[in-house]
Amino acid sequence: MTKIVLVAAVARNGAIGVKGGLPWRIPSDLKHLRATTWGRPMIMGRKTFDSIGKPLPGRESIVVTRDASFAHEGVHVARSIDDAIVIGAARAQAMGVEEIMVVGGGELYRATLDRADRIVLSEVDLAPEGDSFFPALDMSRWREVSRETPPRGENDDAAFTVRVLERV
Ligand SMILES: NC(=O)c1ccc[n+]([C@@H]2O[C@H](COP(=O)([O-])OP(=O)(O)OC[C@H]3O[C@@H](n4cnc5c(N)ncnc54)[C@H](OP(=O)(O)O)[C@@H]3O)[C@@H](O)[C@H]2O)c1
Repeated sequence: MTKIVLVAAVARNGAIGVKGGLPWRIPSDLKHLRATTWGRPMIMGRKTFDSIGKPLPGRESIVVTRDASFAHEGVHVARSIDDAIVIGAARAQAMGVEEIMVVGGGELYRATLDRADRIVLSEVDLAPEGDSFFPALDMSRWREVSRETPPRGENDDAAFTVRVLERV
């Protein structure tokens, strides 16, 4: 079965976004996101897609929206989470991978957490103002399988630690 993997950068206070964008500038985490999602299908909410504005290269984007008129060149459109997972599983198979990546934002993380097999969490060492948050995790249901703190880049607003959690 195709695995569902949530990938998120989360501040100490749970913030993931503010005013439609990220609350920080951390190029090293964007590089990590690129490597983690490369060659894989990615599911994202329409608001997250709007904040990026285009399909990201080297991956396939599946945008979830209730807006029947939404269309954008180079992206798959799903009208529900179930649809997005069906499309994601088919695309994963076509791409020869076993994972569908859910890359945000807050509404999408909340809607998919119960079905997730793994979470790749960048814990950002900041507590910024935010209006989108990662859902609270019940740590009795997740076990940490790896943890790594990449060296802080000179253009990074903060350091971050990548923790990979798997469902118990
Ligand atoms: N730190 C991180 O790792 C990270 C990652 C991604 C995003 N973000 C940030 O998160 C924020 C965006 O998050 P958000 O929670 O506001 O929005 P979001 O999850 O990106 O998108 C929400 C939209 O997705 C669609 N949607 C959600 N659930 C659906 C369902 N069950 N069926 C059909 N459509 C559904 C709806 O689109 P329609 O309104 O078109 O119907 C909804 O308005 C931004 O600030 C962004 O920068 C942070």
